[in-house]
Amino acid sequence: MGTTSTAEGGLLMAVVIMQLLAAAIASDPELTTDFATIMHNASADNFTFTGLRGGAKARPGSFKTVRVFVDSFPALEGLGISAALLEFHPSTHSAPHIHPRGTELFYVMEGSLMVGLVDTAGHFFNQTLQTGDLFVFPKGLLHFEVNPSTAQKAVAFSSFSGSNPATISIPATLFGSGIPPAVLAQAFHVDDSALAQLQAPFAPRQ
Ligand SMILES: *[C@@H]1O[C@H](CO)[C@@H](O)[C@H](O)[C@H]1NC(C)=O
Ligand SMILES: *[C@@H]1O[C@H](CO)[C@@H](O)[C@H](O)[C@H]1NC(C)=O
Ligand SMILES: *[C@@H]1O[C@H](CO)[C@@H](O)[C@H](O)[C@H]1NC(C)=O
Repeated sequence: MGTTSTAEGGLLMAVVIMQLLAAAIASDPELTTDFATIMHNASADNFTFTGLRGGAKARPGSFKTVRVFVDSFPALEGLGISAALLEFHPSTHSAPHIHPRGTELFYVMEGSLMVGLVDTAGHFFNQTLQTGDLFVFPKGLLHFEVNPSTAQKAVAFSSFSGSNPATISIPATLFGSGIPPAVLAQAFHVDDSALAQLQAPFAPRQ
């Protein structure tokens, strides 16, 4: 009895330690130096990102996001932070997506945006944000943004709690990644023609 509970206690401890380790490596490992080793011979220019000059430059009638993650801004390596600039022309949206490695702090710089998120219990939260408002999308949760205005543009700036938060776009991942049509038709309870319609926008361009 005593032996069993000790063994169980040990197992429980091992599980807790594994969970703590998993939580720790789910974000950027902490640096023990001022900045990443690759930056040691760098100049001020290496700590500067100029790719947002002139804005996100979305084409008229479209939505565009310029991501400033560690791949485009190597100085972010190990610093647990990154950013994005988002531009929404009237009546455009950012499709439902997930950032698996970063919480997103979303700041509306211009216009008004309707945002929504869904938690892991399936609860839907939505809000209409005005210029100057902040909204937080917790790490790993499904979310989207919509510019409901038919006349005014909207611009937002986001910061992320990771240098490489990554983006999983739900429509493109589901309908453009090559998951067998039979699996999707069954999952969505639709017939082949309805599925073909969902997949069409993501078909490889000729
Ligand atoms: C720093 O900038 C220079 C000039 O653009 C570039 O050649 C170099 O690779 C950069 N170093 C790092 C660590 O990004
Ligand atoms: C920095 O430059 C020195 C001399 O040019 C070189 O020996 C060293 O390896 C470089 N360090 C890094 C991290 O690139
Ligand atoms: C939330 O979404 C519903 C539609 O599902 C909409 O009618 C409502 O206005 C939205 N609320 C906010 C605060 O944007």
